[in-house]
Order: sequence, then structure tokens, then C-alpha cells
Amino acid sequence: MPQTDVIIIGSGIAALSAAYHLRHKQVTIITKSSWKKSNSMLAQGGIAAAVHTKDSWKNHYEDTLVAGCYHNDLKNVEHLVQDGPTEILEWCQRGMTFDCDLNGQFLLGKEGAHSQHRIIHAGGDATGREVTQFLYQSILPSVTVIENEMATDLIVNNSVCLGVATMCANGKMKRYLASKTIIASGGCGAMYGHTSNADIITGDGIAMAYRAGAKIADMEFIQFHPTMLNIDGRCVGLVSEAVRGEGASLINQNGEAFMDKLHPQGDLAPRDVVSRAIYYEMKKGNNVFLDISNLPNFSTRFPTISKLCEQYGINLDEGMIPVAPGMHFLMGGIQTNDKGETNILNLFAVGEAACTGVHGANRLASNSLLEGLVFGKRVANHLLSLPFEQPDRSVDVLTNTTAADEVIELPTKKQIQEIMTNYVGIQRTQAELTLAVNWFKFYQNQFTFWAFNVKNFTTEQIEIINMLTIGWLISTSAFNRTESRGGHYRLDFPETNDKDWRQKQLIRMKDEMY
Ligand code: SIN
Repeated sequence: MPQTDVIIIGSGIAALSAAYHLRHKQVTIITKSSWKKSNSMLAQGGIAAAVHTKDSWKNHYEDTLVAGCYHNDLKNVEHLVQDGPTEILEWCQRGMTFDCDLNGQFLLGKEGAHSQHRIIHAGGDATGREVTQFLYQSILPSVTVIENEMATDLIVNNSVCLGVATMCANGKMKRYLASKTIIASGGCGAMYGHTSNADIITGDGIAMAYRAGAKIADMEFIQFHPTMLNIDGRCVGLVSEAVRGEGASLINQNGEAFMDKLHPQGDLAPRDVVSRAIYYEMKKGNNVFLDISNLPNFSTRFPTISKLCEQYGINLDEGMIPVAPGMHFLMGGIQTNDKGETNILNLFAVGEAACTGVHGANRLASNSLLEGLVFGKRVANHLLSLPFEQPDRSVDVLTNTTAADEVIELPTKKQIQEIMTNYVGIQRTQAELTLAVNWFKFYQNQFTFWAFNVKNFTTEQIEIINMLTIGWLISTSAFNRTESRGGHYRLDFPETNDKDWRQKQLIRMKDEMY
């Protein structure tokens, strides 16, 4: 059984940032696809950091709290926004490059709910790709990267994480022992049919942590990004909020701009507000477009989006991009403290898989890549301060594999996505949530604590089991939060109820909620 100091599950920016700072240890990254297939690679807008002399971390802090509807963990927000500028400058010193003007000053974009221009970007709208590639090169050859192998379950004994069980592309099962295990496998975008996420983002890390007994928090808070490219009712990719930051506006098919009358920040209101506004327009039967006619240099500033539009036959000279909202980001996840620690010893989580509370009820635009860099480093530095003892090889759980008695007929991913979209979407009601909760309950009763080391599933089936667990966590949490806040909107409880709910997290562990 291979043994290493640190196993990192996932290969996005949070994983790579942690790996970089831990590279003098023995580190193995395990990812179920190619290292290139991550949400980080798809990120367009950029990285938010108060680097401009007229900006300050305090402004960034306040904007993060306002967007997050004051559900945020204040200490962790402080870490994020205070460490951000230094983090960016350190990566620049290592050779990372961002778009700059002729004087070498960062070109700063603006996005929703930011009071300042503070979005650093690279390759115009290819920030995620540029940053991920740079990080990946910087961890080689020190870090071992294993691709096309899926982490299926954590190996946990007496609330201590000993490593991870995996399944290779050919169905062979393996075990890895590690002194420390970090889950950095992202969120759960594939829970919804309309998503900006890579289709492999099925909530695996969160589901396996839940099975292992980790605390999971804030799962009801789902961010729907307002503007996915909408081709005949199908969302086929992201159209960055930075497009609105450069001056584009949202209009309906009658040419009416509808955001200004709904929110003082108009087209750049927080994402939950804009997504709901588009959703209501579409419910009225209207199509919604981004009017880019006043952006003459669109294809230079946004080459990735231009290529995507071209691929789907959109003529940008006409100045209209059809858009619709789609699942973008999970604010909840594996509950961690400011060092990435979970309630299971030697198990850590970082990035979208983790819930540090930094995003509150609704993440501020371009704070996610920043979170990956800042918290990836924080977790790594914490690990470096700990002893690296080798896991005990004698425990039973290391060798057990069981065959499932019977393989229950699983739903398809599409069926799960339909339940989530119809009953746990942008707008929720008790009646619809009840339908979702009951639907997931049937499966959850069979799978919750059981997938450990099961050898007669395919990786696709394990993804579906993970999605069923995530659906259960999201729908039950959404059912229980009887107020509206950020990414959780209840039509039957439309107000934000600070008295009962401000900063109250719904935490799940095993079959309990508190
Ligand atoms: C975008 O470019 O609109 C997405 C950036 C983000 O999710 O923060």
C-alpha cells in the first residue's frame, strides 16, 4: 500500500497552492480526470485583491460581507482580504503574469457588488487557465500527480483519517496511506443541468467526507451566476460578470434594461439579485441578453468568451449575447476552521469543497481564486507546523472490501439535475422542497454510511451516489432554513430574518442536523 506525507484530492487552484507550499514534503495529488479538468481552469473574471493605492482591504472586507449577507465568518474574511494583495505580489515575484498597462500597473476590472475596480486578470478573460497552468508548472517535479483515478472514500479509524481509497479507470481499487489528507475537489456544479462548472464536479469530496463523519455546513447556499451563454435553452458556458463590469447591460427581448429599477447597483448588483431578476424575466416568457454594443474592443478584452460565442454561431457585431442563470458555486461544504482543519483528525479541506464561512450566504465575485491561493497556503503552513506521523497499518479498515449485496437501481445524473432544478433551484418553497427531500430520502436511507470500500460499482455509479448524498444535504438544509439570504431564496419566507438566522449555520454530521 503506497504511503506518503500528504494526499491532496483535486487539482484546482486550492489544491495546487497547497501542494506548492508543501512541495518539500512527499505530496501526491490524486485527481479523477486530467489535472486540466477543473473549475479553476474555467474561471474567467479574475482574482479580487485590494492592490490599488485608492483601495483598501477594509473596502474589500465590507463588500465581501454585504454580498455574503453578513453570514460570513468575520475572522476568515479578514484573512482572505488582508492576505490577498501580498499573495498576488508573491506569485508575481515567482513569475506569474497578469494583464497590465504600459506602465506595468495591473489593469483592474470590476464585477458585481464590488465598490471598486479590483479584479486582477490574465489573458483577458482566461485568468483561471493562466494561473492554474503556472501553479501546475511550479509544483513539478516535486509533487506526484496521479490522474484518472477517483478517490472513492476516506479511510478513517476512530475519527482519525489514515488516507484514501481510490478506483482506477479500469475499475481496480487501491488504497493510499497518508499522514495528512486534504480534500480540494471543488463543489457540486453538476447537480444542476445549467451550470458553469466542469461536468465532473459531482460533490465527491464533500460526500465522502460526510460518509466519514465530517461536519458539513451551509449546503443550502448555492450561487447561480446570472449570465451563462444560453443557446436554445441550454447553458453552454460562462459569460463573465466582468463583461457587465466593462459596461454591458442586461436587456430583455423588447430592449428594456431591467436591473436599474431593481437595485441601486443595477447590472452589478450581487449575483443572487441579478439571477433572480433574469429568472423572473424568463418566467414572463422574455429572453434575456447582454447588450455589448457599447464595448468596441470586446473580442480583445474577452477572447475566451468571443470564441465561445463564435462556436455557437453568435454574431458579436449584432451586440447581443443570449444569457440565462446557472449553478456556479457552492458556499457550503466541509466545515473547517481558519487552518483547514475538519472535525476528523488529519483530514483537511480547502477551496470550494471547504466551508470556512468566508463567502457567507453568497460569494463576492472573484473571491474564489483568491480563496484558493490564500487558504491553500494557510492550510499548507499549518500542516508544516504539525508532526508527520505515519498512519497505523494494522487497522482492519485498510484491507476490507465488501461487495454490495444488491445493486439498487440508481437514477441518472439527468434525473437528479431535474429534481434539483425544479425543486431546489433559484427560488424555493416548502412544498417543492418536500418533494425533493422525499425523493433523496429514499436513496439516502440506502447509501449514507455505506459506500466505504464497495468494489462492485463503476466510477459513474459512485458519482451518482455522491450526487444523491449532496442532493440530500442541500434539499434538507434548504427545507430547514425558513428565511431568505443570499443564495437561498424561499418564496414562502422571502425576508431575511436576522433575529433567528443571522450567522446561524445548519451543520450536518452523520444523520444529524444542528
Ligand atoms: C465571472 O467571471 O463572472 C466569474 C467569476 C467568479 O465566479 O468569481
